[in-house]
Amino acid sequence: MVDAVNADLPAPDELLALAVEIAEEAGALARRRRTEGVAIAATKTALADIVTEADREVEDLVRARLAQARPGDGFLGEESGAETGTSGITWVVDPIDGTVNYAYGIPQYAVSIAAVTGEPTPETWEALVGVVHNPAVVETFLALRGGGAWLAGRRLAVSQSGDAGALLATGFGYDPATHAGDLARLAEVMPLARDIRRAGAASLDLAFVAAGRLDGYFERGLNPWDHAAGALLVTEAGGVVSGLPGGRPGRDMTIAAGAELHDRIAETVYRPR
Ligand code: IPD
Repeated sequence: MVDAVNADLPAPDELLALAVEIAEEAGALARRRRTEGVAIAATKTALADIVTEADREVEDLVRARLAQARPGDGFLGEESGAETGTSGITWVVDPIDGTVNYAYGIPQYAVSIAAVTGEPTPETWEALVGVVHNPAVVETFLALRGGGAWLAGRRLAVSQSGDAGALLATGFGYDPATHAGDLARLAEVMPLARDIRRAGAASLDLAFVAAGRLDGYFERGLNPWDHAAGALLVTEAGGVVSGLPGGRPGRDMTIAAGAELHDRIAETVYRPR
Protein backbone atom coordinates (compact mmCIF):
# COMPACT_ATOMS: atom_id res chain seq x y z
CA MET A 1 0.00 0.00 0.00
CA VAL A 2 1.41 3.40 -0.97
CA ASP A 3 1.33 6.23 1.60
CA ALA A 4 -0.82 9.17 0.60
CA VAL A 5 1.62 12.10 0.71
CA ASN A 6 -0.88 14.75 -0.25
CA ALA A 7 -4.31 14.19 -1.72
CA ASP A 8 -3.67 16.82 -4.43
CA LEU A 9 -0.62 15.05 -5.80
CA PRO A 10 -0.89 12.55 -8.67
CA ALA A 11 -0.83 8.80 -7.94
CA PRO A 12 2.81 7.87 -7.32
CA ASP A 13 2.55 4.78 -9.52
CA GLU A 14 1.67 7.01 -12.50
CA LEU A 15 4.80 9.04 -11.79
CA LEU A 16 6.81 5.84 -11.54
CA ALA A 17 5.55 4.51 -14.87
CA LEU A 18 6.46 7.82 -16.50
CA ALA A 19 9.92 7.86 -14.88
CA VAL A 20 10.66 4.30 -16.03
CA GLU A 21 9.49 5.00 -19.59
CA ILE A 22 11.58 8.16 -19.87
CA ALA A 23 14.66 6.69 -18.17
CA GLU A 24 14.66 3.74 -20.57
CA GLU A 25 14.17 5.97 -23.62
CA ALA A 26 16.94 8.29 -22.38
CA GLY A 27 19.18 5.30 -21.66
CA ALA A 28 18.71 3.96 -25.18
CA LEU A 29 19.82 7.35 -26.53
CA ALA A 30 22.88 7.37 -24.24
CA ARG A 31 23.82 3.84 -25.31
CA ARG A 32 23.41 4.71 -29.00
CA ARG A 33 25.56 7.82 -28.65
CA ARG A 34 28.18 5.77 -26.76
CA THR A 35 28.51 3.39 -29.71
CA GLU A 36 28.97 6.35 -32.06
CA GLY A 37 31.85 7.77 -29.96
CA VAL A 38 31.78 10.25 -27.10
CA ALA A 39 32.79 13.91 -27.35
CA ILE A 40 33.72 15.87 -24.21
CA ALA A 41 31.71 19.11 -24.46
CA ALA A 42 33.20 21.01 -21.48
CA THR A 43 34.76 20.75 -18.05
CA LYS A 44 32.77 21.91 -15.02
CA THR A 45 33.92 22.25 -11.39
CA ALA A 46 37.39 20.80 -12.06
CA LEU A 47 39.35 19.54 -15.07
CA ALA A 48 38.33 15.97 -14.18
CA ASP A 49 34.63 16.96 -13.98
CA ILE A 50 33.43 16.62 -17.55
CA VAL A 51 30.20 16.89 -19.47
CA THR A 52 29.74 15.12 -22.79
CA GLU A 53 27.51 16.12 -25.68
CA ALA A 54 25.44 13.06 -24.76
CA ASP A 55 24.85 14.27 -21.16
CA ARG A 56 23.27 17.43 -22.56
CA GLU A 57 21.29 15.68 -25.28
CA VAL A 58 19.97 13.06 -22.86
CA GLU A 59 18.96 15.70 -20.29
CA ASP A 60 17.21 17.70 -23.03
CA LEU A 61 15.24 14.59 -23.97
CA VAL A 62 14.24 13.85 -20.35
CA ARG A 63 13.28 17.47 -19.73
CA ALA A 64 11.21 17.71 -22.92
CA ARG A 65 9.37 14.43 -22.24
CA LEU A 66 8.57 15.47 -18.66
CA ALA A 67 7.42 18.94 -19.73
CA GLN A 68 5.15 17.34 -22.34
CA ALA A 69 3.64 14.81 -19.91
CA ARG A 70 3.51 17.02 -16.79
CA PRO A 71 3.81 20.70 -17.70
CA GLY A 72 3.21 21.99 -14.15
CA ASP A 73 6.08 20.11 -12.54
CA GLY A 74 9.41 21.60 -11.53
CA PHE A 75 12.78 20.33 -12.74
CA LEU A 76 16.25 20.07 -11.23
CA GLY A 77 18.82 18.65 -13.61
CA GLU A 78 22.58 18.24 -13.51
CA GLU A 79 23.21 19.91 -16.85
CA SER A 80 20.38 22.38 -17.42
CA GLY A 81 19.60 23.64 -13.92
CA ALA A 82 16.40 24.28 -12.00
CA GLU A 83 12.91 25.45 -12.87
CA THR A 84 10.19 25.87 -10.26
CA GLY A 85 6.84 24.22 -10.96
CA THR A 86 3.28 24.77 -9.78
CA SER A 87 2.14 21.17 -9.10
CA GLY A 88 4.18 20.45 -5.97
CA ILE A 89 6.30 17.85 -7.81
CA THR A 90 9.90 18.37 -8.88
CA TRP A 91 11.85 15.96 -11.08
CA VAL A 92 15.48 15.53 -10.05
CA VAL A 93 17.53 14.20 -12.94
CA ASP A 94 21.07 13.07 -13.64
CA PRO A 95 21.03 12.25 -17.37
CA ILE A 96 24.28 10.28 -17.22
CA ASP A 97 25.57 9.56 -13.73
CA GLY A 98 29.06 8.13 -14.09
CA THR A 99 30.04 10.43 -16.94
CA VAL A 100 33.73 9.57 -16.63
CA ASN A 101 32.91 5.85 -16.95
CA TYR A 102 30.73 6.72 -19.95
CA ALA A 103 33.52 8.70 -21.58
CA TYR A 104 35.98 5.82 -21.06
CA GLY A 105 33.55 3.14 -22.26
CA ILE A 106 33.11 1.49 -18.84
CA PRO A 107 29.56 0.03 -18.74
CA GLN A 108 28.75 1.46 -15.30
CA TYR A 109 26.69 4.60 -15.87
CA ALA A 110 23.02 5.39 -15.33
CA VAL A 111 20.09 7.65 -16.03
CA SER A 112 18.77 8.67 -12.59
CA ILE A 113 15.28 10.16 -12.26
CA ALA A 114 13.38 10.95 -9.05
CA ALA A 115 10.10 12.75 -8.42
CA VAL A 116 10.09 14.63 -5.12
CA THR A 117 7.57 16.75 -3.29
CA GLY A 118 8.17 19.72 -0.99
CA GLU A 119 10.94 22.26 -1.41
CA PRO A 120 13.28 20.91 -4.12
CA THR A 121 16.19 20.51 -1.73
CA PRO A 122 17.41 17.20 -0.27
CA GLU A 123 17.31 18.66 3.26
CA THR A 124 13.51 18.68 3.19
CA TRP A 125 12.10 16.95 0.12
CA GLU A 126 10.11 13.70 0.20
CA ALA A 127 11.02 11.42 -2.69
CA LEU A 128 7.94 9.77 -4.21
CA VAL A 129 9.55 7.65 -6.90
CA GLY A 130 13.10 6.85 -7.94
CA VAL A 131 14.44 5.13 -11.06
CA VAL A 132 18.07 4.26 -11.79
CA HIS A 133 18.56 2.73 -15.24
CA ASN A 134 21.87 1.34 -16.47
CA PRO A 135 21.56 1.25 -20.26
CA ALA A 136 24.80 -0.70 -20.76
CA VAL A 137 23.38 -3.80 -19.06
CA VAL A 138 19.71 -2.82 -19.48
CA GLU A 139 18.81 -2.90 -15.79
CA THR A 140 16.16 -0.65 -14.25
CA PHE A 141 16.06 -0.29 -10.46
CA LEU A 142 12.85 1.38 -9.31
CA ALA A 143 11.31 2.47 -6.04
CA LEU A 144 7.93 3.79 -5.00
CA ARG A 145 7.52 5.56 -1.67
CA GLY A 146 5.85 3.03 0.61
CA GLY A 147 5.76 0.47 -2.23
CA GLY A 148 9.21 -1.09 -2.10
CA ALA A 149 12.26 -1.18 -4.36
CA TRP A 150 12.31 -3.51 -7.34
CA LEU A 151 14.53 -4.89 -10.10
CA ALA A 152 13.08 -7.01 -12.92
CA GLY A 153 9.99 -7.90 -10.88
CA ARG A 154 12.03 -8.93 -7.80
CA ARG A 155 11.62 -7.01 -4.56
CA LEU A 156 14.94 -5.73 -3.27
CA ALA A 157 16.28 -5.94 0.27
CA VAL A 158 19.54 -4.61 1.68
CA SER A 159 22.04 -7.21 2.89
CA GLN A 160 23.08 -8.18 6.39
CA SER A 161 26.88 -8.24 6.23
CA GLY A 162 28.49 -11.16 8.03
CA ASP A 163 31.68 -11.90 9.97
CA ALA A 164 33.94 -11.48 6.95
CA GLY A 165 33.23 -7.75 6.96
CA ALA A 166 31.21 -5.56 4.62
CA LEU A 167 31.63 -5.05 0.90
CA LEU A 168 31.70 -1.25 0.84
CA ALA A 169 31.75 1.31 -1.95
CA THR A 170 32.83 4.91 -1.91
CA GLY A 171 33.85 7.72 -4.26
CA PHE A 172 36.22 10.65 -4.29
CA GLY A 173 34.54 13.46 -6.22
CA TYR A 174 36.41 15.72 -8.60
CA ASP A 175 37.94 18.35 -6.31
CA PRO A 176 41.61 17.43 -5.64
CA ALA A 177 41.53 19.53 -2.44
CA THR A 178 39.18 17.01 -0.82
CA HIS A 179 41.03 13.83 -1.75
CA ALA A 180 43.37 13.67 1.27
CA GLY A 181 40.38 13.88 3.66
CA ASP A 182 38.46 11.28 1.64
CA LEU A 183 41.42 8.88 1.77
CA ALA A 184 41.89 9.40 5.52
CA ARG A 185 38.19 8.61 6.06
CA LEU A 186 38.51 5.51 3.89
CA ALA A 187 41.45 4.30 6.00
CA GLU A 188 39.33 4.65 9.13
CA VAL A 189 36.39 2.76 7.61
CA MET A 190 38.60 -0.01 6.18
CA PRO A 191 38.49 -2.21 9.34
CA LEU A 192 34.75 -2.67 8.72
CA ALA A 193 35.34 -3.85 5.17
CA ARG A 194 36.01 -7.19 3.54
CA ASP A 195 36.85 -5.12 0.43
CA ILE A 196 36.21 -1.74 -1.19
CA ARG A 197 34.74 -0.82 -4.59
CA ARG A 198 34.98 2.53 -6.38
CA ALA A 199 32.72 1.89 -9.36
CA GLY A 200 32.18 5.51 -10.45
CA ALA A 201 28.43 6.14 -10.47
CA ALA A 202 26.84 7.10 -7.14
CA SER A 203 23.27 6.31 -8.25
CA LEU A 204 24.33 2.74 -9.10
CA ASP A 205 26.29 2.43 -5.84
CA LEU A 206 23.05 3.23 -4.01
CA ALA A 207 21.02 0.91 -6.26
CA PHE A 208 23.52 -1.86 -5.54
CA VAL A 209 23.14 -1.33 -1.77
CA ALA A 210 19.37 -1.65 -2.26
CA ALA A 211 19.91 -4.88 -4.21
CA GLY A 212 22.38 -6.37 -1.70
CA ARG A 213 25.17 -6.29 -4.29
CA LEU A 214 27.02 -4.02 -1.89
CA ASP A 215 26.65 -4.03 1.89
CA GLY A 216 27.21 -0.30 2.29
CA TYR A 217 28.28 2.94 0.64
CA PHE A 218 29.57 6.28 1.83
CA GLU A 219 30.75 9.36 -0.05
CA ARG A 220 31.24 13.06 0.57
CA GLY A 221 30.51 15.66 -2.10
CA LEU A 222 27.40 14.27 -3.82
CA ASN A 223 24.96 16.56 -5.62
CA PRO A 224 21.17 16.17 -5.21
CA TRP A 225 20.76 14.45 -8.60
CA ASP A 226 23.42 11.86 -7.69
CA HIS A 227 21.44 10.49 -4.72
CA ALA A 228 17.75 11.53 -5.16
CA ALA A 229 16.57 8.29 -6.79
CA GLY A 230 19.16 5.96 -5.23
CA ALA A 231 18.43 7.04 -1.66
CA LEU A 232 14.75 6.11 -2.09
CA LEU A 233 15.82 2.72 -3.50
CA VAL A 234 17.83 2.05 -0.33
CA THR A 235 15.16 3.11 2.15
CA GLU A 236 12.47 1.18 0.28
CA ALA A 237 14.77 -1.86 0.38
CA GLY A 238 14.82 -1.60 4.19
CA GLY A 239 18.08 0.32 4.54
CA VAL A 240 19.05 3.62 6.09
CA VAL A 241 20.47 6.65 4.28
CA SER A 242 21.84 9.64 6.14
CA GLY A 243 24.15 12.61 5.83
CA LEU A 244 25.74 14.47 8.70
CA PRO A 245 24.77 12.86 12.05
CA GLY A 246 20.99 12.68 12.19
CA GLY A 247 20.67 14.58 8.91
CA ARG A 248 19.63 13.91 5.33
CA PRO A 249 22.09 12.71 2.68
CA GLY A 250 23.85 15.57 0.96
CA ARG A 251 27.07 17.19 -0.11
CA ASP A 252 28.68 16.85 3.36
CA MET A 253 28.14 13.10 3.50
CA THR A 254 25.97 10.27 2.25
CA ILE A 255 25.97 6.93 4.10
CA ALA A 256 23.75 4.04 2.95
CA ALA A 257 23.47 0.49 4.32
CA GLY A 258 21.35 -1.79 6.46
CA ALA A 259 20.64 -0.15 9.85
CA GLU A 260 23.40 -1.81 11.88
CA LEU A 261 26.16 -1.35 9.33
CA HIS A 262 24.95 2.18 8.60
CA ASP A 263 25.45 3.10 12.25
CA ARG A 264 28.91 1.51 12.38
CA ILE A 265 29.99 3.44 9.26
CA ALA A 266 28.54 6.66 10.69
CA GLU A 267 30.31 6.19 14.04
CA THR A 268 33.60 5.64 12.21
CA VAL A 269 33.21 8.51 9.78
CA TYR A 270 32.30 10.97 12.53
CA ARG A 271 34.73 9.71 15.19
CA PRO A 272 36.66 12.78 16.42
CA ARG A 273 40.21 12.72 15.03
C1 IPD B 1 29.62 11.50 -10.26
C2 IPD B 1 29.56 10.02 -9.97
C3 IPD B 1 30.72 9.59 -9.10
C4 IPD B 1 30.80 10.38 -7.82
C5 IPD B 1 30.82 11.87 -8.12
C6 IPD B 1 29.62 12.26 -8.97
P1 IPD B 1 28.62 12.42 -12.56
O1 IPD B 1 28.50 11.92 -11.00
O2 IPD B 1 28.34 9.68 -9.34
O3 IPD B 1 30.62 8.22 -8.73
O4 IPD B 1 31.97 10.02 -7.14
O5 IPD B 1 30.77 12.58 -6.88
O6 IPD B 1 29.67 13.65 -9.24
O7 IPD B 1 29.48 13.63 -12.54
O8 IPD B 1 29.24 11.30 -13.31
O9 IPD B 1 27.20 12.69 -12.94
